[in-house]
Amino acid sequence: MARFGAFRSTAIATLTLLSTQQGVLRAQEKQAPKSAPASVATTSQPNVPVAQYVGSETCKTCHEKIYDGWEKTPHWKTTLNTAGGPSKQGCEGCHGPGADHVAGGGDVSKIFTFKNVSTKEINNRCLTCHAGGPQHMNTINSIHTQNNVSCISCHSPHHSETKEFLLIKAQPQLCYTCHLQRKAEFEMPFHHRVNEGLVNCTDCHNPHGTVGPKQVRTSSTQNAVCFTCHTDKQGPFVFEHEPVKIEGCTSCHLPHGGPNVHMLRVSNVNLLCLQCHTNSAPNGKTGNAPGVPSFHSQKTFFKSCTLCHNQIHGSNFDQTFFK
Ligand code: HEC
Ligand code: HEC
Ligand code: HEC
Ligand code: HEC
Ligand code: HEC
Ligand code: HEC
Ligand code: HEC
Ligand code: HEC
Ligand code: HEC
Ligand code: HEC
Repeated sequence: MARFGAFRSTAIATLTLLSTQQGVLRAQEKQAPKSAPASVATTSQPNVPVAQYVGSETCKTCHEKIYDGWEKTPHWKTTLNTAGGPSKQGCEGCHGPGADHVAGGGDVSKIFTFKNVSTKEINNRCLTCHAGGPQHMNTINSIHTQNNVSCISCHSPHHSETKEFLLIKAQPQLCYTCHLQRKAEFEMPFHHRVNEGLVNCTDCHNPHGTVGPKQVRTSSTQNAVCFTCHTDKQGPFVFEHEPVKIEGCTSCHLPHGGPNVHMLRVSNVNLLCLQCHTNSAPNGKTGNAPGVPSFHSQKTFFKSCTLCHNQIHGSNFDQTFFK
């Protein structure tokens, strides 16, 4: 695992060296929860008298094993949040006030247990501290939330299997527990090396929700996620190839993987180009793509279009994307 981790960091670092943008994007997201707990004023337990809270040390007297595990997680930090008050601290920050539970000798009906409650109730508990910031601001309406995938479908504050992020399982296995069909795409001959641990699902997706479709991340400037690693494709170029900018990378590439070189949607580059560059009636979507000049006839010669037009993502020198 450690070896994979190092491999992943080195490989990504080579790509991201070119890309300060990815750094900025991740940094912004990571800052969010740090400031969130102190700055969020709302609470899931309004108007509960302070006397109803007993403090984590009391919980420890009966739940020592849980306490010892929990003490090693980042949530331990909440005990230092004196400004937030007892409803934001320790065990009771999530489980709510515990005085009645303790008085009842551990009466389970007097404590919030996360069992038999709705996704909304679970999420709201966690969001009292984790709302806001670019990472979580779209959680409430995300497709995961709508389908009852709650915070604790992926995270476990007490029984996590990962060093970071309190995940139930490491990626990509976490995601494959529900998205098994996607696994086959990453096993195709040409693919992003997700199964190998080089790229994560969450490099491209935000499972907490996004503004755009399919939970695909965008940068803070709303650019396609692909540019965070493939910076050389971003330009700006003097001569842009319109579909790269307008329809996006996925108009020609499959994002996960596929049977064709360079993860192209079509097996033959020429057929890809000719989907848009036809001399026959334009097909609406690609109406302004010029047809190929007559000397290009596929009958008289057959050469890969990108043999000549090889700066297909954009060029600073040539309008027809030669070198
Ligand atoms: C970040 C929120 C959070 C904090 C803080 C927290 N818990 Fe929990 N607790 C949960 C959730 C969620 C569950 C449901 C099981 C799971 O998903 O891990 C749970 C389950 C439990 C259970 C049921 C048994 C089990 O092993 O799952 C006990 C007991 C418990 N917590 C006690 C505590 C004690 C004691 C503390 C403080 C040391 C504490 N919790 C702090 C969220 C939290
Ligand atoms: C006097 C001992 C005692 C103290 C103190 C205590 N508990 Fe418990 N707690 C119990 C017992 C007994 C149970 C039920 C046994 C079981 O099912 O594990 C329990 C169960 C729980 C459960 C799990 C219920 C379930 O079935 O999932 C949670 C959550 C919990 N306690 C949280 C807390 C928190 C938070 C505190 C501190 C505010 C706390 N307890 C303090 C004795 C105690
Ligand atoms: C579908 C799975 C999934 C769900 C649902 C989910 N998370 Fe996450 N969460 C992840 C993964 C994977 C990571 C780590 C990768 C990353 O940075 O996005 C993460 C990271 C985090 C982080 C740390 C990173 C950061 O920048 O904030 C927090 C805090 C967090 N999640 C809280 C929540 C809360 C609160 C909920 C419920 C409202 C939730 N998550 C729902 C999968 C999920
Ligand atoms: C009382 C406030 C509070 C509540 C409620 C809360 N958290 Fe947190 N959470 C924090 C703080 C503080 C951190 C540490 C942030 C940091 O290290 O900067 C944190 C960190 C995390 C992380 C990141 C762990 C890592 O390794 O970086 C995850 C994931 C997370 N919380 C999930 C949850 C989930 C799921 C719930 C609901 C079951 C929840 N939190 C409820 C305050 C809270
Ligand atoms: C507990 C099950 C579960 C887990 C775990 C889970 N998902 Fe999902 N996910 C769903 C469900 C249910 C949907 C709703 C749409 C569907 O059926 O695909 C969904 C939707 C999505 C979508 C949007 C699909 C669309 O058509 O708009 C993406 C992207 C996604 N998940 C990515 C992830 C990633 C990345 C992870 C791992 C970090 C993950 N999911 C973990 C259950 C899950
Ligand atoms: C290199 C970026 C990238 C990675 C890595 C990635 N995805 Fe995606 N994924 C995308 C893009 C872009 C789309 C949207 C495709 C579209 O709209 O045609 C997408 C679409 C999806 C969808 C919706 C599929 C559909 O046909 O509607 C799901 C579900 C999904 N991804 C899950 C995952 C899971 C699970 C992982 C990790 C195992 C993962 N993705 C890794 C970029 C990525
Ligand atoms: C108009 C179709 C089209 C679009 C849109 C497109 N590509 Fe490509 N891409 C290609 C073709 C064709 C090749 C293979 C070039 C060759 O045969 O030499 C390729 C090759 C690549 C390669 C591998 C070779 C290299 O140049 O590094 C990467 C990486 C790549 N594309 C990324 C992207 C990204 C990122 C985007 C979005 C910014 C994108 N592509 C948009 C057609 C496209
Ligand atoms: C987290 C970084 C990252 C992101 C984000 C990313 N890629 Fe990649 N991509 C890579 C790496 C690393 C490789 C090299 C794969 C290898 O050699 O295994 C690659 C390879 C490719 C290739 C194949 C290059 C070849 O030579 O055949 C294409 C095409 C491509 N990516 C397109 C995309 C598209 C489209 C997106 C956005 C949906 C995207 N990438 C997002 C890291 C990324
Ligand atoms: C999704 C549709 C689409 C695909 C696929 C596509 N193109 Fe284009 N292409 C366009 C559009 C639209 C323009 C912009 C025309 C303009 O600027 O007026 C363009 C412009 C061009 C131009 C510049 C024409 C000029 O004189 O300005 C060349 C050369 C070209 N494409 C070659 C290719 C090649 C080679 C491929 C295959 C690798 C390809 N295109 C794939 C839509 C597409
Ligand atoms: C042998 C080299 C070569 C190959 C292979 C080639 N082209 Fe060209 N292409 C050219 C030349 C030369 C021009 C004219 C450039 C100019 O006018 O400056 C051109 C021009 C174009 C234009 C611009 C037409 C306009 O009206 O502005 C398009 C579009 C185009 N090619 C598409 C393609 C497509 C699609 C393929 C593959 C089916 C392809 N080319 C294969 C050499 C090539």
